[in-house]
Amino acid sequence: MSTITILAIESSCDDTSASVIQNAKILSNCIASQSIHKEYGGVVPEVASRAHQANIVPVVDAALKKAGVDKKDLSAIAFTRGPGLLGSLLVGVSFAKGLALSLDIPMIEVNHIQAHVLAHFIDAPQPQLPFLCLTVSGGHTQIVKVHDHLEMEILGTTIDDAAGEAFDKTGKLLGLDYPAGPIIDKLAKEGNVVFEFTEPSVANLDFSFSGLKTNILQFVQKHRRKNPDFVEENLKDICASVQDRIVSILMNKLIKASKQTGIKEVAIAGGVSANSGLRQALATIGKERGWNTYIPEFEYCTDNAAMIAMTAYFKYQKGDFVGHDIAPLARYKF
Ligand code: KG4
Ligand code: ZN
Repeated sequence: MSTITILAIESSCDDTSASVIQNAKILSNCIASQSIHKEYGGVVPEVASRAHQANIVPVVDAALKKAGVDKKDLSAIAFTRGPGLLGSLLVGVSFAKGLALSLDIPMIEVNHIQAHVLAHFIDAPQPQLPFLCLTVSGGHTQIVKVHDHLEMEILGTTIDDAAGEAFDKTGKLLGLDYPAGPIIDKLAKEGNVVFEFTEPSVANLDFSFSGLKTNILQFVQKHRRKNPDFVEENLKDICASVQDRIVSILMNKLIKASKQTGIKEVAIAGGVSANSGLRQALATIGKERGWNTYIPEFEYCTDNAAMIAMTAYFKYQKGDFVGHDIAPLARYKF
């Protein structure tokens, strides 16, 4: 078999990442995170695209160096086409076009959400097809049925906020930095579930988090009227209680999806799958229900180019290449 070596670039949001894959094996996964957004309490698109421009060359160089691969040995260049911030995506797409043109090699476009799911094929153990995947990130919350590597069916999706947004917006209400997900996770470990937040009733396998956001806002306002230091004094318990509710909303739908499809191969993916409460709940519930459960390695949960490289590897084998007229897509359904 000839050697397939692909350089992949991810620039859909606030992390610039590059990865090299060789014959299904990830050789490097370099990430430059943009801490500047903390000052604004969220990702500022224009600031993000400028930071991508500054980061992309050093990150690609680092990925090639770590992999021990020379540019001239690349078989293809892959990039995230969407969904994401248009200006950010544009940096990755333009860079990929330039490099592909100069090296005269093909380009592969990748759907970011599909790539989060395919992060499960980077390392063993890998789920058996078909499997269910709960993809939870800052922009998306979906349950997909994965029929084949590149054939996925969306069974349920959020009708408003994403699970990551629920964490980040809660953090904003509580005065925490952005992104608040990992901070809430850490604080929750030292707190107890003592406050009750609402579980929305949404039909089918769809999700909703905007009601929870309002519920938390009203809860904070009500208690602050009586005690201005209420949040500071109860921060850990509030975090534990909010996290517990977000996790139960996600897990209840996943249980429903498994019952409906009869599938017991169950995976989670995306930035929120780094959450220790969700990981624990999946392990416990999975054991009770006889599921085989899968969680990607921590570095492949949040945004990374290794998952883009993995997806590109499957596409390369099918000869699924794109021309130089390709444009990024802010919204991109698969
Ligand atoms: O997949 P990702 O890195 O980027 C998107 O595609 O959106 O996900 C980022 C999201 C953010 O909302 C962040 O707060 C959340 O993942 N996140 C977490 C944790 N780590 C990251 N949420 C809860 N607990 C965590 N440990
Ligand atoms: Zn993501």
